[in-house]
Order: sequence, then structure tokens, then C-alpha cells
Amino acid sequence: MKILVTGGLGYIGSHAIVQLLISNHEITIIDNLSNSQKETHKKIKDITGKNSDFYKIDTTNYAKLDNLCEKHNFDAVIHFAGYKAVGESINEPLKYYFNNLLSTINIAKLAIKYDINTIIFSSSATVYGNGESPFTEKSPLLERTNPYGETKAMCERILIDTQKAYPNLSLFLLRYFNPIGAHKSGLLGEIPNGIPNNLVPYITQVAKGKREKLQIYGNDYNTPDGTGIRDYIHVVDLAKGHVSALESNRTGINIYNLGTGKGTSVLELVNAFEKVNNIKIPFEIVSRRPGDIAVSYADVSKAKRELGWEAKLTLEDMVEDAWNFEKNLKKEENKND
Ligand code: NAD
Ligand code: UFG
Repeated sequence: MKILVTGGLGYIGSHAIVQLLISNHEITIIDNLSNSQKETHKKIKDITGKNSDFYKIDTTNYAKLDNLCEKHNFDAVIHFAGYKAVGESINEPLKYYFNNLLSTINIAKLAIKYDINTIIFSSSATVYGNGESPFTEKSPLLERTNPYGETKAMCERILIDTQKAYPNLSLFLLRYFNPIGAHKSGLLGEIPNGIPNNLVPYITQVAKGKREKLQIYGNDYNTPDGTGIRDYIHVVDLAKGHVSALESNRTGINIYNLGTGKGTSVLELVNAFEKVNNIKIPFEIVSRRPGDIAVSYADVSKAKRELGWEAKLTLEDMVEDAWNFEKNLKKEENKND
């Protein structure tokens, strides 16, 4: 298939493109490079040996997107582009509403205009709010605790309403749980901007000696060891979920949780990292981070049943690959040195 991938040089998009190229799809990438580097395009080629096209285009720019879609005959669009930093979204809500909503509206408009059959959208477990795990796709979407999460719920709504008005469109809303890890080659992974907000990038920077110690946000949750529980999924498994959705040929509105179905606490993750990589991670327990929930993990049976997809890689694979990526990161590639 001929696929437009927005935000394709980012963390998840780049891993998804590798899997799509391996499956012989024809890829056009657009990215504004606000949170990625152009060199990633070459790294994708180095890993797969296959070519893809890259254009530096902002998805909020309707005219440029229109021009691109007019020239290509895309069968599908996978829409990763967007801002994702929870804390920043609280301080700069309009930046998030503008980028994430306008980008999604533009993609939906162009899918209709150019008869692009399929839209796959990057949603998030955050849409379930502070609900009860395991989350199924039928779990209620409770109030989000930050504007970023709100944009994901709003984009889902926009795309669902669009599909209802244009029933020929196949829509996939993929709700990611906590993607971590990196490509085995060590070439692709997550390079956070500034001080990492997320657990695993923080841990790898402590391991590298760039940060003194990890702060664990609370050990007084109602969980077996008191620390927060999440459903960590290897980014390569997550990437493969997009290929399964695309190749399923399903029609209508399709919503899937992409996770492993297993919950891991912060302390369990730190222990796994230390054991697999043989590195001590100093930490201190500090107070809870506002907006965090105690437990979040997925019921993944729907994706297995309907897409034949399930996560295969283990927590050990995830922490090994995350460290392999950070270890090999050159100084000039680091945005926070
Ligand atoms: P990322 O920041 O690494 O990738 C997003 C990419 O989109 C970046 O390359 C960025 O430069 C680009 N981009 C942003 N705004 C753009 C615009 N207006 N025009 C063109 N390009 C633009 O993030 P990621 O972790 O790869 O996430 C991909 C998607 O998945 C995002 O929509 C994110 O909200 C969603 N998601 C991520 C997680 C996670 O934990 N990483 C969890 C759930 C959902
Ligand atoms: N944590 C720490 N110390 C840190 C960072 C995190 O203890 O320095 C803890 C958190 O309190 C939480 C767990 O580690 O219990 C995971 O936190 P992350 O920040 O890595 O991930 P979140 O579950 O908070 O959020 C992530 C993404 C969101 C997305 C959500 C669900 O950042 O964008 O997963 O997909 F919405």
C-alpha cells in the first residue's frame, strides 16, 4: 500500500516505518522536525535497506498537505504527528490544542477529499482517565487530568464523527499504553527534549551518569509495593500493531488497546533494569506526581482476536534495548547535554 506517515521521524513513527518497509509498503514521511532529527530518515534506510520519501511539512499547514496529497495516491495515512509532553501541555494548553487538533482535522479533511481509505490514529491510554484497570476498549472515557490527554480524546471524537459521516473510511484508533525500549540496532530510540518526564528515559540517563538519581513519585499507592503500575510495551511490538491494523482490511470504526496486558510497578522496572544491564540505579522516594494514577494496564484480548496481534517482547528485552540505545547515543545526538 501507498502510505502517508505523519510524525514519521519521531520515536514510535520511525519504528513503525521500519516494520512497514519490511512488509513492502511504500512510505511517504512528513515531519516538521519539532521533536526529531532528519538523520533518522537515513537510519531507517540503514536498517531496512529500503527507500522512503521524506518531506519537511507541518501537518497544521493545510495547503502544503493538500499539495502533497494531490500528487500522490495514498491508500492510507498513519497519523503520529503531535505534541506529547503532559507537563508542557498544562503550561501551554493552546499550543497543544492548536497542533494536535488542527493536524487531525487537516488529515481527516484530506482523507475525505482524496479518497484515502484508511486513517490510523495514535491515541493513548490516557483517554481512560483515572478508571479501573484492566481497561477494555469499552471502559468509560473519564475526565483527563491534562490538556494533552484531552486532545487525544477530542481527536478520537473528531475522527469518529468524520467516519460516521463518511462510512467508506476505515478508522483505527490505537490506544497505546507505555511504549519503551528501542530498535535492536541501537539506531532508533527515544531522545527526550530536556529533562525526561518519562520513567525509562530518566533511568537510562541515570545509568549513563547524566543524572544523579531517579526520583520515584510515591510509594504510598494502593499497589503491592506502593509504587505506580503501568503496562510497558516494547516499541517494536507497538510498531508491528500498526502493520496488523493496516493489513487487517477491516472497515468502520476500530478501537484497540495496544499493550501487553501486564502491569509492572516502578520498583519492578528499576529492578529489571539493574539485573539485566548489571548497573545500579540510585533512587529516592519523593511525593506523588500530580495527575498520576495508581494503576494502568490494558485488556489486550480484542487486538489479539480481531487483528491477530499481540506483544511478544519481554520486560527484559525492553530494558536491555533501552539501555543499548542510550549507551550508543553520541553526544551531538543528545538534545539535553
Ligand atoms: P515523538 O514526539 O517522538 O513523535 C512525534 C513526531 O511528530 C515528532 O517527530 C515531531 O517532530 C512530529 N510533529 C509534531 N507536530 C508536528 C506537526 N505539526 N507537523 C509535523 N510533524 C509534527 O512522539 P512519539 O512518542 O513517537 O508519539 C507519536 C504519537 O503517539 C503522538 O501522537 C503521541 O501523542 C502518541 N502517543 C505516544 C505515547 C508515548 O508514550 N510515547 C503514548 C500514547 C500516545
Ligand atoms: N515515574 C517516576 N519517576 C519518574 C518518571 C515516572 O516514578 O521520573 C513513575 C510515574 O509516577 C508512573 C510511572 O513511573 O507511575 C510511569 O510514568 P511515565 O511518565 O513514564 O508514564 P505515564 O504513565 O505517566 O504516561 C505515559 C505518557 C503519556 C501517555 C501515558 C499512557 O507519558 O503521554 O503513558 O499512554 F498518555
